[in-house]
Amino acid sequence: MKLWGGRFTKETNQLVHNFNASLSFDQKFFEEDIAGSIAHVTMLAKQEIITKEDKTAIIDGLNSICDDIKSGALVIDEEHEDIHSFVEAHLTERIGEAGKRLHTGRSRNDQVALDMKLYTRKEIKEMENLLKGLLESLLRIMKENTETIMPGFTHLQKAQPITLAHHMGAYFEMFQRDRSRLHDIYERMNYCPLGSGALAGTTYPLDREYAASLLDFYGPTLNSMDSVSDRDYLIEFCSAMSIIMMHLSRFCEEIIIWNTNEYQFIEIDDSYSTGSSIMPQKKNPDIAELIRGKTGRVYGSLTSLLTTMKGLSLAYNKDMQEDKEFAFDAIDTTKGCIALFHGMLDTLTLRKDKMRASAEGGFTNATDAADYLVNHGVAFRDAHGIVGKLVLYCIEKNISLGEMSLEEYKAISPVFEEDIYDAICMETCVSKRNTIGAPGQEAMAKVIKIYEEYLRK
Ligand code: ARG
Repeated sequence: MKLWGGRFTKETNQLVHNFNASLSFDQKFFEEDIAGSIAHVTMLAKQEIITKEDKTAIIDGLNSICDDIKSGALVIDEEHEDIHSFVEAHLTERIGEAGKRLHTGRSRNDQVALDMKLYTRKEIKEMENLLKGLLESLLRIMKENTETIMPGFTHLQKAQPITLAHHMGAYFEMFQRDRSRLHDIYERMNYCPLGSGALAGTTYPLDREYAASLLDFYGPTLNSMDSVSDRDYLIEFCSAMSIIMMHLSRFCEEIIIWNTNEYQFIEIDDSYSTGSSIMPQKKNPDIAELIRGKTGRVYGSLTSLLTTMKGLSLAYNKDMQEDKEFAFDAIDTTKGCIALFHGMLDTLTLRKDKMRASAEGGFTNATDAADYLVNHGVAFRDAHGIVGKLVLYCIEKNISLGEMSLEEYKAISPVFEEDIYDAICMETCVSKRNTIGAPGQEAMAKVIKIYEEYLRK
Protein backbone atom coordinates (compact mmCIF):
# COMPACT_ATOMS: atom_id res chain seq x y z
CA MET A 1 0.00 0.00 0.00
CA LYS A 2 1.09 3.54 -0.80
CA LEU A 3 0.43 6.37 1.66
CA TRP A 4 -0.05 8.69 -1.31
CA GLY A 5 -1.21 8.30 -4.92
CA GLY A 6 -4.50 10.22 -5.02
CA ARG A 7 -3.08 12.91 -7.25
CA PHE A 8 -1.11 10.55 -9.48
CA THR A 9 -2.29 9.19 -12.80
CA LYS A 10 0.50 6.72 -13.46
CA GLU A 11 2.07 3.85 -11.58
CA THR A 12 5.50 4.48 -10.09
CA ASN A 13 8.32 3.17 -12.21
CA GLN A 14 9.75 0.07 -10.50
CA LEU A 15 13.29 1.48 -10.40
CA VAL A 16 11.93 4.66 -8.86
CA HIS A 17 10.13 2.64 -6.22
CA ASN A 18 13.30 0.73 -5.41
CA PHE A 19 15.41 3.87 -5.33
CA ASN A 20 12.94 5.74 -3.14
CA ALA A 21 12.15 2.92 -0.71
CA SER A 22 13.70 2.68 2.72
CA LEU A 23 11.95 -0.42 4.05
CA SER A 24 15.03 -2.60 3.63
CA PHE A 25 16.73 -0.62 6.38
CA ASP A 26 14.09 1.32 8.30
CA GLN A 27 12.44 -1.95 9.34
CA LYS A 28 15.15 -1.93 11.97
CA PHE A 29 12.96 0.36 14.07
CA PHE A 30 9.56 -1.30 13.61
CA GLU A 31 9.15 -1.50 17.38
CA GLU A 32 9.82 2.20 17.79
CA ASP A 33 7.44 3.00 14.94
CA ILE A 34 4.69 1.04 16.65
CA ALA A 35 5.43 2.51 20.10
CA GLY A 36 5.30 6.01 18.59
CA SER A 37 1.97 5.26 16.92
CA ILE A 38 0.51 3.91 20.15
CA ALA A 39 1.50 7.11 21.96
CA HIS A 40 0.07 9.19 19.11
CA VAL A 41 -3.36 7.52 19.15
CA THR A 42 -3.47 7.54 22.95
CA MET A 43 -3.03 11.29 22.77
CA LEU A 44 -5.55 11.62 19.90
CA ALA A 45 -8.19 9.82 21.97
CA LYS A 46 -7.47 11.86 25.08
CA GLN A 47 -8.01 14.99 22.98
CA GLU A 48 -11.18 13.44 21.55
CA ILE A 49 -9.80 13.68 18.03
CA ILE A 50 -10.54 9.97 17.60
CA THR A 51 -12.92 7.78 19.64
CA LYS A 52 -11.85 5.50 22.50
CA GLU A 53 -13.11 2.52 20.46
CA ASP A 54 -10.89 3.43 17.52
CA LYS A 55 -7.98 3.96 19.85
CA THR A 56 -8.41 0.52 21.42
CA ALA A 57 -8.79 -1.15 18.04
CA ILE A 58 -5.69 0.61 16.70
CA ILE A 59 -3.56 -0.24 19.73
CA ASP A 60 -4.64 -3.89 19.69
CA GLY A 61 -3.95 -4.05 15.97
CA LEU A 62 -0.51 -2.44 16.37
CA ASN A 63 0.40 -4.80 19.20
CA SER A 64 -0.62 -7.82 17.17
CA ILE A 65 1.50 -6.59 14.25
CA CYS A 66 4.46 -6.12 16.58
CA ASP A 67 4.06 -9.62 18.05
CA ASP A 68 3.70 -11.18 14.61
CA ILE A 69 6.80 -9.45 13.22
CA LYS A 70 8.77 -10.66 16.23
CA SER A 71 7.51 -14.23 15.96
CA GLY A 72 8.07 -14.31 12.22
CA ALA A 73 4.35 -14.79 11.48
CA LEU A 74 4.38 -11.46 9.65
CA VAL A 75 7.25 -11.04 7.20
CA ILE A 76 8.31 -7.55 6.18
CA ASP A 77 8.18 -7.68 2.37
CA GLU A 78 9.72 -5.19 0.01
CA GLU A 79 6.46 -4.19 -1.62
CA HIS A 80 5.99 -1.24 0.74
CA GLU A 81 7.92 2.01 0.61
CA ASP A 82 8.92 2.19 4.24
CA ILE A 83 8.14 0.78 7.67
CA HIS A 84 5.50 3.44 8.26
CA SER A 85 3.55 2.39 5.15
CA PHE A 86 4.03 -1.27 5.99
CA VAL A 87 2.61 -0.96 9.49
CA GLU A 88 -0.30 1.25 8.45
CA ALA A 89 -1.24 -1.06 5.57
CA HIS A 90 -1.27 -4.13 7.80
CA LEU A 91 -3.17 -2.27 10.49
CA THR A 92 -5.93 -1.32 8.09
CA GLU A 93 -5.98 -4.84 6.71
CA ARG A 94 -6.45 -6.17 10.24
CA ILE A 95 -8.88 -3.69 11.80
CA GLY A 96 -10.50 -1.91 8.82
CA GLU A 97 -11.68 1.73 8.94
CA ALA A 98 -10.14 2.59 12.30
CA GLY A 99 -6.68 1.86 10.89
CA LYS A 100 -7.11 4.75 8.47
CA ARG A 101 -7.44 7.17 11.42
CA LEU A 102 -3.97 6.39 12.81
CA HIS A 103 -2.23 9.04 10.76
CA THR A 104 -4.57 11.88 11.83
CA GLY A 105 -2.53 14.95 12.74
CA ARG A 106 0.75 13.33 11.83
CA SER A 107 3.17 13.33 8.89
CA ARG A 108 5.80 10.79 8.06
CA ASN A 109 8.25 13.63 8.62
CA ASP A 110 7.56 13.91 12.34
CA GLN A 111 6.95 10.17 12.49
CA VAL A 112 10.35 9.24 11.12
CA ALA A 113 12.01 11.93 13.23
CA LEU A 114 10.39 10.33 16.27
CA ASP A 115 11.24 6.75 15.30
CA MET A 116 14.87 7.57 14.70
CA LYS A 117 15.12 9.42 18.00
CA LEU A 118 13.53 6.55 19.91
CA TYR A 119 15.88 4.09 18.25
CA THR A 120 18.98 6.22 18.77
CA ARG A 121 18.08 6.92 22.40
CA LYS A 122 17.91 3.18 23.10
CA GLU A 123 21.22 2.56 21.34
CA ILE A 124 22.93 5.37 23.26
CA LYS A 125 21.89 3.72 26.54
CA GLU A 126 23.14 0.33 25.36
CA MET A 127 26.45 1.80 24.29
CA GLU A 128 26.82 3.56 27.62
CA ASN A 129 26.36 0.18 29.30
CA LEU A 130 28.86 -1.54 27.05
CA LEU A 131 31.37 1.15 27.94
CA LYS A 132 30.59 0.70 31.61
CA GLY A 133 31.42 -3.00 31.32
CA LEU A 134 34.69 -2.16 29.63
CA LEU A 135 35.51 0.37 32.37
CA GLU A 136 34.86 -2.28 35.02
CA SER A 137 37.38 -4.59 33.38
CA LEU A 138 39.91 -1.79 33.09
CA LEU A 139 39.51 -0.98 36.76
CA ARG A 140 39.99 -4.63 37.69
CA ILE A 141 43.24 -4.76 35.71
CA MET A 142 44.32 -1.51 37.32
CA LYS A 143 43.74 -2.81 40.83
CA GLU A 144 45.70 -5.96 40.08
CA ASN A 145 48.63 -4.10 38.59
CA THR A 146 49.51 -1.10 40.73
CA GLU A 147 52.96 -2.70 41.24
CA THR A 148 53.44 -4.05 37.73
CA ILE A 149 56.32 -2.04 36.35
CA MET A 150 56.58 -1.39 32.64
CA PRO A 151 58.20 1.23 30.44
CA GLY A 152 56.14 4.29 29.61
CA PHE A 153 56.75 5.58 26.09
CA THR A 154 56.92 8.85 24.24
CA HIS A 155 57.54 8.71 20.47
CA LEU A 156 57.27 4.92 20.99
CA GLN A 157 60.69 5.20 22.65
CA LYS A 158 61.10 4.07 26.23
CA ALA A 159 60.79 7.15 28.41
CA GLN A 160 60.14 6.58 32.13
CA PRO A 161 58.98 3.63 34.19
CA ILE A 162 55.27 3.49 34.92
CA THR A 163 52.91 0.75 36.03
CA LEU A 164 50.41 -1.21 34.00
CA ALA A 165 47.71 0.29 36.25
CA HIS A 166 48.79 3.73 35.14
CA HIS A 167 48.72 2.76 31.46
CA MET A 168 45.25 1.20 31.79
CA GLY A 169 44.11 4.25 33.72
CA ALA A 170 44.78 6.41 30.67
CA TYR A 171 42.23 4.36 28.75
CA PHE A 172 39.85 4.47 31.69
CA GLU A 173 39.89 8.25 31.38
CA MET A 174 39.23 8.08 27.63
CA PHE A 175 36.29 5.68 27.86
CA GLN A 176 34.88 7.59 30.81
CA ARG A 177 34.85 10.75 28.69
CA ASP A 178 33.20 8.75 25.90
CA ARG A 179 30.47 7.69 28.28
CA SER A 180 29.84 11.20 29.45
CA ARG A 181 29.70 12.39 25.83
CA LEU A 182 26.95 9.83 25.15
CA HIS A 183 25.12 11.02 28.24
CA ASP A 184 25.32 14.64 27.06
CA ILE A 185 23.91 13.73 23.65
CA TYR A 186 21.01 11.94 25.31
CA GLU A 187 20.23 14.94 27.47
CA ARG A 188 20.24 17.29 24.48
CA MET A 189 18.26 15.11 22.09
CA ASN A 190 15.55 13.81 24.40
CA TYR A 191 12.74 16.08 23.19
CA CYS A 192 9.80 14.76 21.22
CA PRO A 193 9.21 15.86 17.60
CA LEU A 194 5.78 14.19 17.40
CA GLY A 195 3.09 16.72 16.54
CA SER A 196 5.35 18.79 14.32
CA GLY A 197 3.51 17.44 11.30
CA ALA A 198 5.09 17.84 7.89
CA LEU A 199 6.80 21.09 8.95
CA ALA A 200 4.24 23.53 10.34
CA GLY A 201 2.48 21.66 13.13
CA THR A 202 -1.17 20.71 12.70
CA THR A 203 -4.59 22.29 13.06
CA TYR A 204 -5.75 19.54 15.46
CA PRO A 205 -5.70 20.30 19.18
CA LEU A 206 -2.83 17.87 19.86
CA ASP A 207 -1.40 17.63 23.36
CA ARG A 208 2.27 17.47 22.51
CA GLU A 209 3.40 17.55 26.16
CA TYR A 210 1.28 14.50 26.89
CA ALA A 211 2.55 12.54 23.87
CA ALA A 212 6.11 13.43 24.84
CA SER A 213 5.60 12.23 28.41
CA LEU A 214 4.10 8.93 27.20
CA LEU A 215 7.35 8.25 25.38
CA ASP A 216 9.63 9.35 28.24
CA PHE A 217 10.85 12.50 26.56
CA TYR A 218 11.68 15.53 28.67
CA GLY A 219 9.11 17.50 26.66
CA PRO A 220 8.11 18.42 23.11
CA THR A 221 10.51 20.12 20.70
CA LEU A 222 9.82 23.84 20.30
CA ASN A 223 10.09 24.45 16.58
CA SER A 224 8.27 22.20 14.15
CA MET A 225 10.53 23.09 11.20
CA ASP A 226 13.64 22.16 13.13
CA SER A 227 11.95 19.08 14.62
CA VAL A 228 11.45 17.39 11.26
CA SER A 229 14.83 18.33 9.87
CA ASP A 230 17.13 18.08 12.89
CA ARG A 231 19.74 15.38 12.54
CA ASP A 232 22.24 17.03 14.88
CA TYR A 233 21.90 14.30 17.48
CA LEU A 234 22.90 11.69 14.89
CA ILE A 235 25.90 13.75 13.85
CA GLU A 236 26.85 14.14 17.49
CA PHE A 237 26.37 10.42 18.05
CA CYS A 238 28.50 9.55 15.01
CA SER A 239 31.09 11.97 16.29
CA ALA A 240 31.06 10.39 19.75
CA MET A 241 31.30 6.94 18.16
CA SER A 242 34.21 8.11 16.01
CA ILE A 243 36.02 9.15 19.16
CA ILE A 244 35.21 5.83 20.85
CA MET A 245 36.59 4.02 17.80
CA MET A 246 39.68 6.23 17.80
CA HIS A 247 40.29 5.23 21.43
CA LEU A 248 39.72 1.55 20.72
CA SER A 249 41.98 1.82 17.70
CA ARG A 250 44.82 3.33 19.71
CA PHE A 251 44.43 0.62 22.33
CA CYS A 252 44.40 -2.03 19.60
CA GLU A 253 47.57 -0.59 18.12
CA GLU A 254 49.27 -1.00 21.49
CA ILE A 255 47.92 -4.50 21.90
CA ILE A 256 49.28 -5.39 18.47
CA ILE A 257 52.70 -3.97 19.39
CA TRP A 258 52.74 -5.58 22.84
CA ASN A 259 51.75 -8.91 21.32
CA THR A 260 54.70 -8.99 18.87
CA ASN A 261 57.60 -11.41 19.29
CA GLU A 262 59.79 -8.38 19.96
CA TYR A 263 57.77 -7.03 22.90
CA GLN A 264 55.93 -10.02 24.34
CA PHE A 265 54.31 -7.84 27.03
CA ILE A 266 51.05 -9.69 26.50
CA GLU A 267 49.66 -12.67 24.70
CA ILE A 268 46.28 -12.48 23.02
CA ASP A 269 44.22 -15.51 23.96
CA ASP A 270 43.83 -18.28 21.38
CA SER A 271 40.09 -17.67 21.39
CA TYR A 272 40.70 -14.10 20.19
CA SER A 273 43.45 -14.87 17.65
CA THR A 274 43.51 -16.28 14.17
CA GLY A 275 46.02 -18.30 12.16
CA SER A 276 47.67 -18.13 8.76
CA SER A 277 46.71 -20.40 5.88
CA ILE A 278 50.34 -20.91 4.93
CA MET A 279 52.56 -20.19 7.96
CA PRO A 280 51.81 -22.81 10.62
CA GLN A 281 53.60 -20.91 13.39
CA LYS A 282 51.45 -17.78 13.10
CA LYS A 283 48.96 -16.49 15.62
CA ASN A 284 47.68 -13.16 14.41
CA PRO A 285 46.00 -10.26 16.23
CA ASP A 286 43.27 -10.02 13.57
CA ILE A 287 40.59 -8.84 15.99
CA ALA A 288 42.67 -5.89 17.15
CA GLU A 289 43.54 -5.10 13.53
CA LEU A 290 39.91 -5.29 12.44
CA ILE A 291 38.77 -2.96 15.20
CA ARG A 292 41.52 -0.56 14.14
CA GLY A 293 40.38 -0.98 10.53
CA LYS A 294 36.70 -0.45 11.24
CA THR A 295 37.48 2.90 12.80
CA GLY A 296 37.69 4.37 9.31
CA ARG A 297 34.24 3.08 8.56
CA VAL A 298 32.71 4.90 11.53
CA TYR A 299 34.57 8.11 10.61
CA GLY A 300 33.03 7.60 7.15
CA SER A 301 29.53 7.66 8.61
CA LEU A 302 30.23 10.94 10.35
CA THR A 303 31.65 12.53 7.21
CA SER A 304 28.80 11.20 5.08
CA LEU A 305 26.14 12.49 7.42
CA LEU A 306 27.72 15.91 7.71
CA THR A 307 28.00 16.09 3.95
CA THR A 308 24.42 14.96 3.41
CA MET A 309 23.12 17.69 5.69
CA LYS A 310 25.27 20.60 4.62
CA GLY A 311 23.20 21.91 1.72
CA LEU A 312 19.69 21.24 2.93
CA SER A 313 17.18 24.06 3.07
CA LEU A 314 14.46 23.88 5.73
CA ALA A 315 12.58 21.76 6.44
CA TYR A 316 12.46 18.04 5.56
CA ASN A 317 14.19 16.87 2.37
CA LYS A 318 14.40 13.29 1.20
CA ASP A 319 18.18 13.42 1.45
CA MET A 320 17.62 12.93 5.16
CA GLN A 321 16.56 9.35 4.58
CA GLU A 322 20.25 8.68 4.02
CA ASP A 323 20.88 9.26 7.73
CA LYS A 324 19.73 5.77 8.62
CA GLU A 325 22.18 3.45 6.92
CA PHE A 326 25.13 5.58 8.02
CA ALA A 327 23.96 5.75 11.60
CA PHE A 328 22.92 2.09 11.81
CA ASP A 329 26.23 0.93 10.41
CA ALA A 330 28.19 3.14 12.79
CA ILE A 331 26.11 1.99 15.78
CA ASP A 332 26.36 -1.73 14.97
CA THR A 333 30.06 -1.43 14.20
CA THR A 334 30.91 0.50 17.35
CA LYS A 335 28.86 -1.71 19.65
CA GLY A 336 30.39 -4.82 18.12
CA CYS A 337 33.89 -3.43 18.47
CA ILE A 338 33.43 -2.46 22.13
CA ALA A 339 32.11 -5.93 22.95
CA LEU A 340 34.89 -7.74 21.08
CA PHE A 341 37.56 -5.52 22.50
CA HIS A 342 36.22 -6.13 25.99
CA GLY A 343 36.40 -9.89 25.48
CA MET A 344 39.92 -9.68 24.10
CA LEU A 345 41.05 -7.52 27.02
CA ASP A 346 39.55 -9.82 29.62
CA THR A 347 41.37 -12.83 28.22
CA LEU A 348 44.83 -11.29 27.67
CA THR A 349 47.77 -12.98 29.34
CA LEU A 350 49.96 -10.30 30.93
CA ARG A 351 53.71 -11.02 30.89
CA LYS A 352 54.76 -8.93 33.83
CA ASP A 353 58.35 -10.24 33.74
CA LYS A 354 58.77 -9.01 30.16
CA MET A 355 57.31 -5.61 30.99
CA ARG A 356 59.64 -5.26 33.95
CA ALA A 357 62.72 -6.38 31.97
CA SER A 358 61.88 -3.92 29.24
CA ALA A 359 61.56 -1.08 31.76
CA GLU A 360 65.03 -1.96 33.14
CA GLY A 361 66.61 -1.41 29.73
CA GLY A 362 66.52 1.76 27.71
CA PHE A 363 67.50 4.16 30.53
CA THR A 364 63.95 4.79 31.68
CA ASN A 365 65.47 5.92 35.01
CA ALA A 366 67.69 8.62 33.48
CA THR A 367 65.35 11.43 34.59
CA ASP A 368 65.51 10.06 38.13
CA ALA A 369 69.31 10.07 38.02
CA ALA A 370 69.17 13.74 37.04
CA ASP A 371 66.64 14.42 39.82
CA TYR A 372 69.10 12.75 42.24
CA LEU A 373 71.75 15.29 41.27
CA VAL A 374 69.28 18.17 41.61
CA ASN A 375 68.40 16.94 45.10
CA HIS A 376 72.14 17.15 45.85
CA GLY A 377 72.41 20.77 44.77
CA VAL A 378 73.23 20.46 41.05
CA ALA A 379 71.24 22.75 38.71
CA PHE A 380 68.83 20.73 36.54
CA ARG A 381 70.39 21.77 33.23
CA ASP A 382 73.84 20.63 34.47
CA ALA A 383 72.34 17.43 35.89
CA HIS A 384 70.76 16.75 32.48
CA GLY A 385 74.21 17.06 30.86
CA ILE A 386 75.91 14.81 33.42
CA VAL A 387 73.32 12.04 33.03
CA GLY A 388 73.63 12.38 29.27
CA LYS A 389 77.31 11.49 29.71
CA LEU A 390 76.40 8.53 31.93
CA VAL A 391 74.05 7.23 29.27
CA LEU A 392 76.67 7.58 26.57
CA TYR A 393 79.15 5.70 28.76
CA CYS A 394 76.64 2.91 29.39
CA ILE A 395 75.80 2.59 25.70
CA GLU A 396 79.51 2.17 24.92
CA LYS A 397 79.86 -0.47 27.63
CA ASN A 398 76.48 -2.04 26.86
CA ILE A 399 75.30 -1.82 30.46
CA SER A 400 72.45 -0.12 32.31
CA LEU A 401 72.74 2.77 34.76
CA GLY A 402 72.20 0.32 37.64
CA GLU A 403 75.17 -1.75 36.51
CA MET A 404 77.71 1.07 36.72
CA SER A 405 80.08 0.95 39.70
CA LEU A 406 80.21 3.87 42.12
CA GLU A 407 83.76 4.62 40.89
CA GLU A 408 82.46 4.93 37.36
CA TYR A 409 79.72 7.26 38.59
CA LYS A 410 82.19 9.39 40.52
CA ALA A 411 84.49 9.63 37.53
CA ILE A 412 81.68 11.52 35.76
CA SER A 413 80.39 13.45 38.80
CA PRO A 414 81.70 13.36 42.38
CA VAL A 415 78.21 14.16 43.67
CA PHE A 416 77.10 10.52 43.30
CA GLU A 417 77.09 8.37 46.43
CA GLU A 418 76.02 4.79 47.24
CA ASP A 419 72.35 5.85 47.52
CA ILE A 420 72.20 6.49 43.75
CA TYR A 421 71.34 2.81 43.24
CA ASP A 422 68.28 3.09 45.40
CA ALA A 423 67.28 6.37 43.72
CA ILE A 424 67.25 4.85 40.26
CA CYS A 425 65.74 1.45 40.94
CA MET A 426 62.44 0.95 39.12
CA GLU A 427 60.36 0.76 42.31
CA THR A 428 61.70 4.12 43.53
CA CYS A 429 61.19 5.75 40.15
CA VAL A 430 57.52 4.79 40.21
CA SER A 431 56.69 5.12 43.90
CA LYS A 432 58.16 8.59 44.19
CA ARG A 433 55.78 9.91 41.57
CA ASN A 434 52.83 10.66 43.77
CA THR A 435 51.27 13.85 42.51
CA ILE A 436 47.68 13.04 41.64
CA GLY A 437 47.51 11.43 38.20
CA ALA A 438 51.02 9.96 38.46
CA PRO A 439 51.82 6.23 38.65
CA GLY A 440 53.00 6.14 42.30
CA GLN A 441 50.98 3.72 44.45
CA GLU A 442 49.72 6.40 46.81
CA ALA A 443 48.41 8.57 43.98
CA MET A 444 47.04 5.52 42.16
CA ALA A 445 45.12 4.36 45.25
CA LYS A 446 43.31 7.72 45.36
CA VAL A 447 42.43 7.55 41.68
CA ILE A 448 41.22 3.97 41.94
CA LYS A 449 38.91 5.02 44.74
CA ILE A 450 37.45 7.81 42.60
CA TYR A 451 36.92 5.37 39.73
CA GLU A 452 35.25 2.86 42.05
CA GLU A 453 32.81 5.48 43.23
CA TYR A 454 32.14 6.59 39.66
CA LEU A 455 31.27 3.02 38.61
CA ARG A 456 29.07 2.43 41.67
CA LYS A 457 26.78 5.29 40.62
N1 ARG B 1 11.57 7.09 4.63
C1 ARG B 1 11.51 8.49 4.89
C2 ARG B 1 12.79 8.91 5.63
O1 ARG B 1 13.45 8.07 6.13
C3 ARG B 1 10.32 8.79 5.73
C4 ARG B 1 9.85 10.19 5.61
C5 ARG B 1 9.17 10.38 4.32
N2 ARG B 1 8.71 11.70 4.17
C6 ARG B 1 8.47 12.25 2.97
N3 ARG B 1 8.10 13.47 2.97
N4 ARG B 1 8.65 11.57 1.89
O2 ARG B 1 13.14 10.05 5.68
